[in-house]
Amino acid sequence: MKVLVEGGKSKHCETVAYDPETNRVELIEQRLLPHRFETLNAQTYRDTAQAITDMVVRGAIANGATAAYGYAQGTKEFSGTDLESFRRHEAEVYEVLTKARPTAVDPINALKEMRRLCAAGSTVTEWQAIALAAAVEYSRRSVEGCRALGRLGAGLIAEGARVMTHCNAGWLACVDFGTATAPMYAAQEAGRRFHVYCSETRPRSQGASLTAWEMGQQGISHQVVTDNAAGHMMQRGMVDLVIVGSDRTLARTGEVANKIGTYMKAVLAKRHGIPFYVAIPLSTLDWELEKGDEIPIEDRGDEEVCGAWGSTSEGQLTYVRVASPGSRAFNPGFDVTPPELITGIITPVGILEPARLLEQRTELQLRLS
Ligand code: MRU
Repeated sequence: MKVLVEGGKSKHCETVAYDPETNRVELIEQRLLPHRFETLNAQTYRDTAQAITDMVVRGAIANGATAAYGYAQGTKEFSGTDLESFRRHEAEVYEVLTKARPTAVDPINALKEMRRLCAAGSTVTEWQAIALAAAVEYSRRSVEGCRALGRLGAGLIAEGARVMTHCNAGWLACVDFGTATAPMYAAQEAGRRFHVYCSETRPRSQGASLTAWEMGQQGISHQVVTDNAAGHMMQRGMVDLVIVGSDRTLARTGEVANKIGTYMKAVLAKRHGIPFYVAIPLSTLDWELEKGDEIPIEDRGDEEVCGAWGSTSEGQLTYVRVASPGSRAFNPGFDVTPPELITGIITPVGILEPARLLEQRTELQLRLS
């Protein structure tokens, strides 16, 4: 997507890249946005996993592609030809990347796919070559999936619509296009004008810092609103539509895990008769879990809730404490929205009813492969 550079020009950028010459994974340093645009080179697969844990890169789909490249990077770090020792190394790479963050299913789906495809390799070199090709393909497909769901979802955004979104489900959370934002970008391309309310998304403020930044780069009319403003705004008829992303959507039940605060918005939207959509590529489907309660919810540190990061007027990035000194915090990163609150799931293959995902398993999995 577009990033404005000096002189008001814009350049095309993807969130995650890989350099086969140096075996480095290149990531946009999202912790510095919107104040500075920099990239970070992860030198080893452990650095790549750490970048996921530390939220240098974040968002389910971006983390999926990062895990896929991290796997290719990790397998390439092995030197030698002994298959037994390589398999032990590969198991460690798989484990470290799988555990980088717990809630999103995309990295798990990506790593499973990498391992399945690589099993065709009968030497270390073959395995490494398949891993690289598979990671490139995973990332390409992920971009295609987001582009396709954007085209399908664009019809939901009418001329003059006021759309609310939560967290960042934009291109920064994917490789390109985004999930919740992909229909917005497609509607903009179709010449429609609309307004986006970016819900701030405390404690990490991805809505205020990342979605708002993306909207600005793309020239889409937007405002940041506090998370607490949603009820008031819906009650006053200021929101026509809500679109969010997801970190894990259970195909068996239609339950949607997404950034903490999503459930609250879905309840409010239902109360006010406002359509509530979730946009996902097929890699966000979890075919195994049977209940939303089983989704591992990331429990994050106190400092995110007790303070905030920002930039001083001199441009210095800093953290300030807001909460009472000595107070501890409870900080669940995600929540789960039940299917009855969701109007539709925007996927690359259609806008589907959440409770009927399982019925379409064969068709969806065919598309996925
Ligand atoms: O904690 P984050 O910033 O990784 O959470 C991101 C979200 O919750 C997004 O809404 C989600 O990943 C869906 S869009 C890719």
